[in-house]
Amino acid sequence: MSRQDLIYLSDFDLPSSPDPKLGKILVTGASGYIGGRLVPQLLARGYQVRALVRKASPEYSGLWPQAEVVAADVLDTSPEPLEKALEGIDTAYYLLHSLNLGPKEFQAADIQAAMNFRKAAEKQKVRRIIYLGGLGDIRVSLSSHLRSRMEVAEELTRGKVPVTILRAAIIIGAGSASYEIVQHLVRKLYVIPVPRWAKSRCQPIAIRDVIKYLVGVLEVSGTAGKHFDIGGKEVLTYEEMLMILSQVLNLKRVFVAVPFSNTGACAYFASLFTPVPVPLTQCLMEGLKNDVVCLENSIKQYLPFEPISYKEAVVRALTREEQDRVHTRWSDAYPPAHELALKLRELKDRPAYSHFCSLLTKKSASSLFRSLCNVGGKEGWFQHNWMWRFRGLIDRVVGGVGTSRGRRSYASLKINDVIDFWRIEDLQENKTLLLRSEMKLPGRAWLEFGIMESQGQRQLSLMAYYDTKSLRGKLYWYACLPFHYIIFKKLLMDIEARSS
Ligand SMILES: NC(=O)c1ccc[n+]([C@@H]2O[C@H](COP(=O)([O-])OP(=O)(O)OC[C@H]3O[C@@H](n4cnc5c(N)ncnc54)[C@H](OP(=O)(O)O)[C@@H]3O)[C@@H](O)[C@H]2O)c1
Repeated sequence: MSRQDLIYLSDFDLPSSPDPKLGKILVTGASGYIGGRLVPQLLARGYQVRALVRKASPEYSGLWPQAEVVAADVLDTSPEPLEKALEGIDTAYYLLHSLNLGPKEFQAADIQAAMNFRKAAEKQKVRRIIYLGGLGDIRVSLSSHLRSRMEVAEELTRGKVPVTILRAAIIIGAGSASYEIVQHLVRKLYVIPVPRWAKSRCQPIAIRDVIKYLVGVLEVSGTAGKHFDIGGKEVLTYEEMLMILSQVLNLKRVFVAVPFSNTGACAYFASLFTPVPVPLTQCLMEGLKNDVVCLENSIKQYLPFEPISYKEAVVRALTREEQDRVHTRWSDAYPPAHELALKLRELKDRPAYSHFCSLLTKKSASSLFRSLCNVGGKEGWFQHNWMWRFRGLIDRVVGGVGTSRGRRSYASLKINDVIDFWRIEDLQENKTLLLRSEMKLPGRAWLEFGIMESQGQRQLSLMAYYDTKSLRGKLYWYACLPFHYIIFKKLLMDIEARSS
């Protein structure tokens, strides 16, 4: 994140000021959408920050050089790593959920995670926990996602450590999963079906206001042990949210009431048009049948500022996207099957299957690397783009991530960023780009691009690696091989041609 952005982030009109007496602050979910934005904000306000991630990566020290980064999985059966992460902590932010595990597994995992966290925090005598959960009226039947957010709050408050609970509905900001679902539906569908639940009421809140509340409650000690509903300026139906967005984007859309309201089927349909994978859309969209509005506004006594409107939040998010300044994105968190994925360089033996191709060019390493780093997303995969998209569509249909996740940024890539169905595993300027596949495959796949000097010219190379032990996996590799011959060499030629 650039210095300019840090100044922007710290330039909040918060009615509270940094408290120098506060000790070290732990931010869990630091690799996630909210946690990743909170860490630089706390650092900019002068706090000592420890960022908890599930898997350590050199990228984090580059992102937040002043923060201490620790790795721990709150679901780990051994409590030591979590207890160590909480050692010497004054206040801990709890910004985790397990929605990526899908509708069948996330609830039990979330309760277990909260229980482990509560016990470890108690043992380490943490002074306060701050938790961001979901809005919803407990007197009505809530979706499993919203119920789970409440259960996590209950679990955290069972211990001796005072917990501040903030409850929010949809968070609007560049990179937020809910916002990306809404945006992609409006951009891609000319006729937008409006099921009954689209009339449910919601109080969306801008990401900047969420960060203000998260920092504000830390700095106002009277908020310890209390819970607060936080929301944006107005209450809207989901249909109104879609309409406002289509007006802001200047897109004419037809809204048609439809008789079906099965959220599971709608989530599957929506996931085909949005970058967000099915397990996440299912969990999020199940909650659309519930009204999610603030039932009280006592937060105003402690942090009396005016949140921005939905329209302003949308305009800000679009501006950020246009300026290519999306700092954190829901896709930064890993899909479950890959969270602890072995890296290519960590494999004991080289993968048994590989395909190599290369070309020689007089172009400079830096221009080749620039061109290479622009693949995917809306730039696509050159002439055979349709083949990559078609493969992505098949992946989507079988419940994978597909190609529609696109990319967080064109201006800058970092390790762990996603590019369509790939995740960056290694990135060395002017030398290497190593991508790990996150498609649903009967094996593990990598693509490694390399640039090296060769007899006064540059060799641009591509090595596809595939690791499998199953018969299905082997058949898959041989079925794909003819396509590799067609697309990989051409891809290198196109990257070379585009470089200046
Ligand atoms: N985004 C919204 O619209 C919204 C709205 C209302 C409330 N909230 C609340 O805000 C909080 C944060 O949400 P978010 O949008 O930032 O989520 P997110 O982007 O999906 O991030 C979730 C984070 O949790 C971490 N995590 C999951 N399981 C873990 C485990 N077992 N051990 C350690 N870390 C684990 C993930 O780490 P990995 O990177 O390793 O997966 C990731 O950093 C949640 O409590 C959510 O309910 C969000």
